[in-house]
Amino acid sequence: MAMSESSKTCEQALETGYFGPYGGQFVDESLKKVLDELTAAFLKYKDDPEFNAELAELFNHYCGRPTPIFHCRNLSEKLGGAQIYLKREDLNHLGAHKLNNTLGQALLAKRMGKTRLVAETGAGSHGTAAAATAAMFGMECVVFMGEEDIKRQHPNVVRMKMMGTEVRAAMSGQRTLKEAVDEALAYFVENPDVFYVLGSAVGPHPYPSIVRHFQAVIGKESRRQCIEQIGRVPDYAIACIGGGSNAIGLFAGFLDDEEVTLIGAEPGGRSLDPGQHAASMTLGVPTVCHGFKGYFLPDENGDIAPVYSISAGVDYPGVGPEHCQLKDTGRAQYVPVFDDEAVEAFMTLSRTEGIIPALESSHALAHAIKIAPTLPKDKTILVCLSGRGDKDLELIMDLKNL
Ligand SMILES: Cc1ncc(COP(=O)(O)O)c(C=O)c1O
Repeated sequence: MAMSESSKTCEQALETGYFGPYGGQFVDESLKKVLDELTAAFLKYKDDPEFNAELAELFNHYCGRPTPIFHCRNLSEKLGGAQIYLKREDLNHLGAHKLNNTLGQALLAKRMGKTRLVAETGAGSHGTAAAATAAMFGMECVVFMGEEDIKRQHPNVVRMKMMGTEVRAAMSGQRTLKEAVDEALAYFVENPDVFYVLGSAVGPHPYPSIVRHFQAVIGKESRRQCIEQIGRVPDYAIACIGGGSNAIGLFAGFLDDEEVTLIGAEPGGRSLDPGQHAASMTLGVPTVCHGFKGYFLPDENGDIAPVYSISAGVDYPGVGPEHCQLKDTGRAQYVPVFDDEAVEAFMTLSRTEGIIPALESSHALAHAIKIAPTLPKDKTILVCLSGRGDKDLELIMDLKNL
């Protein structure tokens, strides 16, 4: 299969740090030095057979990979259109895709002789993955989490503490994911001996390339499984977008298959009015934040605007640079999905298939539920079910009076 322009852009970003005009390394000189060491280690080990054998062993025996794809027969029949399949990243150890990335980054940290990790988290999925990885590798770990998210995703806070991680509350601004990234980055600047395990495909170069590399296992497995189980690649591949790591992981498997329509479902929140959503692709503008250039939501003064989503893991005001380039080239589409649509999708999947999805993943599912009835029955939609919904049960119980 010929390499598409999008795949070439991603290869070039390893060298240049840029996906088209997006990405880069907007950090001060001291951090640049640390990031250069990280880039060198990543380039050295990413194709190293021993490194990859160790990672594959962890994927298979710690994560539980490969995760299956599942044909939602009941849901597809109920909708009366395209066939919906799920890539079951919820079946990873700890219940989300985040572990793919923390294992890869911790292995890099080990090769670099680092013994302390720092991470940010929104929903707590990345935080718990970092905590588990640190426990298993015998490393120390500090996780920054917005005070607001500590309240709304409490089960994950308990899990992190249980595994020996120190959880620090991010108390500035809206006290959600953006502030957790702000404070983790500040901690990293002050403690350059620490390894920053970034949880999404955002941040300064080389993080978007690193996170994409480790999450690409989602797309590679999915492509092989679709061909084995369905006989061809899907017509649509849909994933939710926080910073964009599960989506870029899924898309990576299909970028060169021009016939696959790639769709990112981003948080439309309560509405598309200012402050009511986190739809950076729909309403954002190219801006520098968190050390990279990407689509971010600005306020009237050009600062980063307050954002909102019912779902802590997608409540972020920007999107990673590769997605920004995929939007501009038209290779991927990005659509807002509203809170109530995500909650309905959460309930629908739980009740038709006995699978309780994370609220983040429910955004992708909601878009699949929207388009499936408009498509013929022989079309297929693959949805990345990035996580399981146990962490969201209290919120849904209150909302639905269960
Ligand atoms: C289950 C789950 N899915 C998706 C996301 C969004 O992150 P990303 O866009 O990096 O995949 C999160 C973030 O915490 C999450 O917990």
